[in-house]
Parts: sequence; C-alpha cells; structure tokens
Amino acid sequence: MKRVDDFRLRLGKHELVPIMIGGMGVDISTADLALEAARLGGVGHISDAMINTVADRRYDTKHVKEKLALYKYNVHNEDKSSVKFDLGRLVEATRLHVEATMRRKQGDGLVFINCMEKLTMNAPKETLKVRMSAALDAGIDGITLAAGLHLGSFALIEDHPRFRDAKLGIIVSSVRALQLFLKKSARTGRLPDYVVVEGPLAGGHLGFGMDWAQYDLATIVAEVLTYLKGENLDIPVIPAGGIFTGSDAAGFLDAGAGAVQVATRFTVTEECGLPAEVKQEYFKANEDDIVVNEISPTGYPMRMIRSSPGIGDGIRPNCEAYGYLLDANGKCSYVTSYNREVAAHPGARKVQVWDKTCLCTHMRNFDIWTCGQMTWRLKDTTLRLADGSYQMLSAEHVFHDYQFSTDNKVALPAAATV
Ligand SMILES: Cc1cc2nc3c(=O)[nH]c(=O)nc-3n(C[C@H](O)[C@H](O)[C@H](O)COP(=O)(O)O)c2cc1C
Repeated sequence: MKRVDDFRLRLGKHELVPIMIGGMGVDISTADLALEAARLGGVGHISDAMINTVADRRYDTKHVKEKLALYKYNVHNEDKSSVKFDLGRLVEATRLHVEATMRRKQGDGLVFINCMEKLTMNAPKETLKVRMSAALDAGIDGITLAAGLHLGSFALIEDHPRFRDAKLGIIVSSVRALQLFLKKSARTGRLPDYVVVEGPLAGGHLGFGMDWAQYDLATIVAEVLTYLKGENLDIPVIPAGGIFTGSDAAGFLDAGAGAVQVATRFTVTEECGLPAEVKQEYFKANEDDIVVNEISPTGYPMRMIRSSPGIGDGIRPNCEAYGYLLDANGKCSYVTSYNREVAAHPGARKVQVWDKTCLCTHMRNFDIWTCGQMTWRLKDTTLRLADGSYQMLSAEHVFHDYQFSTDNKVALPAAATV
C-alpha cells in the first residue's frame, strides 16, 4: 500500500514532501507551525489576516492603538466609511511578520502566506496589493490566494520584480472558479504554480453555500484534474478538506494530486497559535458540536464549534481599531445587525446578536472556534492524561504521521514525561 512519502511535489526547482499545512488566520497557523512544515520538507503557511494586530502582539508595534486613537471620534457612528488603513503601517506589519519568519527558516521546504480577498479592509484593491507586494519584498516563498475569486489579484502584482519567480497559487472550490480565474489572469501571461481544491469539509470559510453537504472533494478534484489535462496545463492540484490520515492523503496522490493541504490535525499541536484551553475544546468536540452557519460578515458560510463564545455575543463593533471586513463602502453586516438590536432594545446595557458576529474581534480573541469537519476525530489522535485532558501533539509528530502512516492508522504520541 502506498504512503505519502512515496510521492513528491515538484514546484519549479523544489522537490517537496507533498504535505502543505493550510493557512489559518488569525495567527492560528503561526510562524512556528509553518517553519516546522518547511523544516520537514513540506510547505507551511503563515496568514496575513489582521496582520496589524498580529504585529502588535508579536513585534511590539502599536498599530491598533494608533488607529483607534485616530478614529475614536467615529466609534458611535454607524457610517464607518472614513475608517481607513494606513498603507505604510500595513507594509510595516507584513514585512515584520514575513521577515521574522523567513529569517528562521531551515530545511528544504517552503513557507507561503495565505492572503484572503474577503479581508476587504475598506479599500479592497489597494490593501490587497500592498499586502501581497510587501510579503514578496520581505522574501516570502509564495502566496496562496484564498477566500475569494481573485479575478484581479495577479494583475495587482504583475509589475513586482518577484511576480514570476515567487510561487503563486489559488484556492478554488469548483472547476468553474478555476476557469474564471485562469481567464481573468491570462492577460498577465502567468499561470498559477499550484491549485488548492478545497472541499466542503474544510475549516474556516467555505467556498460553498449552505448546501455544502451535497458536494464532495474527490469529485471536484477529479473534475479539476480532467479540465487541466484537457487544456494541457501541468499545474499541481492540491486537495484540501477532511483529509485526516496518511492513507486519505495517499489516496488523493495516487489519483493524480500533486500534494494535499491539511490543517485540522495541526490545530492541536504545540506550534498552533490557539490558546491551550481552546485546543482542549477542539479535542473534546463531538460530531454534533460542529456546525456550519452564516454568522461571518464575509457572506461565506463558516464552520465552527457550536460552543464558541463569540456566537450570539453582541459587543460593540470595533471597526475603528480593526475594520478588516469593511467592504469598499465601509460597510460590515455585523455593524448593521448590531445597530438593529440596539435600536430594538433601547436602554439595554448589552444586546445579543445571533445572525452575524463581530469576526475581527472574536478571531483576534480566539472566541470563534473555526474548525474542520473532522475535528471530532482529534480525540483519537492522542493520549488522555490523568486529569482528563488530552495530551498536546507536536507538529513534527502529526506531519510524520501523514507522511509515513498506512492502513488508515493514526500514530499516537509517546506518553509525555511530566
Ligand atoms: C482553525 C482553522 C482556520 C482556518 N483559517 C483559514 C484561513 O484563514 N484562510 C484559508 O484560506 N483557509 C483557512 N482554513 C482552511 C485550511 O487552510 C485548510 O484548507 C482546510 O482546513 C484543510 O482541511 P482540514 O482542516 O480538514 O485538514 C482554516 C482551517 C482551520 C481548521
């Protein structure tokens, strides 16, 4: 029986272990996690979601405080269109994060950055251009375009000196989305170096409607492979979403995939950015604790653990400090929902908002526990400790389990010595 290690992913001159750890914002896929993937010969991702916030936490900048001070006058105003990001600060934050990560890189693998189009930041084109260009300037190995169709994203960086040498890929959830992307990017004379095909069981936002359960990753991957073959395009296809064991992964590689992208199994590793107590919630989750809902202001369905503290929480919007989801007109659907509840409950000290969530604040505070559908199986990947908690894993352990396991087995870690 074949295992993942029997395959390699070729990206230009690189020959890689065909395991990509997917981007997980906000700083859930940390530099430490991405660097482990690279050290072990695969591909890791950092994420540029809420990058100013991440820079404040990790590199001692004061971007959030400064932005809030500048726009404090607007906190009670429903109209957020004046709340803009300082593009210079955005460059600084991106550079700090990418440079600090790349400086520590070891091994033959690569570190990419996940850039979500849906982080519209009240100036979608300008901010996305700055984010991608600054990451390239700072030496990132590649960029994965996520959460959006990215029809104009290649054009935004086509004049960058690294446009042709950096690895650029796109996440799609259908052959149609890929066709559109290729058509709209054709003018730049550049194809993506890889295509991640994300199915309906993934974590984070889904590229499907609420009818996600009717779709199936293997079918979409087969359609994409057939399409690319028909077009004579030799682009590695990388399935993602619900690939839980090395055997699941090897099955896709055997069927023609170039690599797999995985994330959920790494949410319970030491290197993952979630707080330790939240990792225990991921371990504990049962199948019926995992829900897909429409509370994300992005408009995409999102998967999360039902008991996430951010669900229903009616905090005042924090767009003056964050504002990553403000659209091109300075609107966010949480702001609308929040104002509706405030108007409906005059005099209430605190309201509840169920139809949308303040995703910026809650992702920043790790209060929306987004997860993959297979999260309920995490408890079977480790040992139970005497106090009833679950033993944390190392990224190396999980990576090697994907790389070497056969027969759908999941290797348990060695018991931790106390
Ligand atoms: C906690 C978590 C956060 C995620 N955040 C993002 C994100 O910010 N951007 C993105 O493109 N994908 C995100 N994803 C999707 C992963 O990158 C990946 O494609 C997918 O989850 C793989 O499926 P798996 O989790 O079943 O292995 C996230 C997944 C998880 C589990």
